[in-house]
Amino acid sequence: GAAVEVDISGLKPDEKLTVEWRGKPVWIIRRSKEQLAELPKLDSQLADPESKRHPDEFTPAYARNEWRSIKPEILVVVGICTHLGCSPVDKFIPGPQPSLPSDWQGGFLCPCHGSTFDMAGRVFKNKPAPDNLEVPPHMYLSDTRLLIG
Ligand code: FES
Repeated sequence: GAAVEVDISGLKPDEKLTVEWRGKPVWIIRRSKEQLAELPKLDSQLADPESKRHPDEFTPAYARNEWRSIKPEILVVVGICTHLGCSPVDKFIPGPQPSLPSDWQGGFLCPCHGSTFDMAGRVFKNKPAPDNLEVPPHMYLSDTRLLIG
């Protein structure tokens, strides 16, 4: 399929752009410093914190790091649950929930069967989704221009 070029120069912290790539929604989110600082603390609660399951399918080599991204602040993921394909709600802030840390910095919730994902699209343990959200192939053409596909 055709690659999609995206200008991210106007993307502010905690904002999301959605573009369509191969018929799928791709989310581009600029994460805050607080959200980035939270990621390493969540590792023990995640099913696959280092994205080692099916890496070639879901996490390209250049995104197999702490942030699952090329630039730490910019998350690029396919907004489709890896369980049965529903679209998760982004950056949900839940009420008190024992399964989530008290200093929760947001993440994604799939409304179909309750899978939860952190701000790197990593799935929490004991959820139906078998994999982290897919990081699509992408590269930066410049500081502010992203090529997806
Ligand atoms: Fe997302 Fe089932 S489709 S949890």
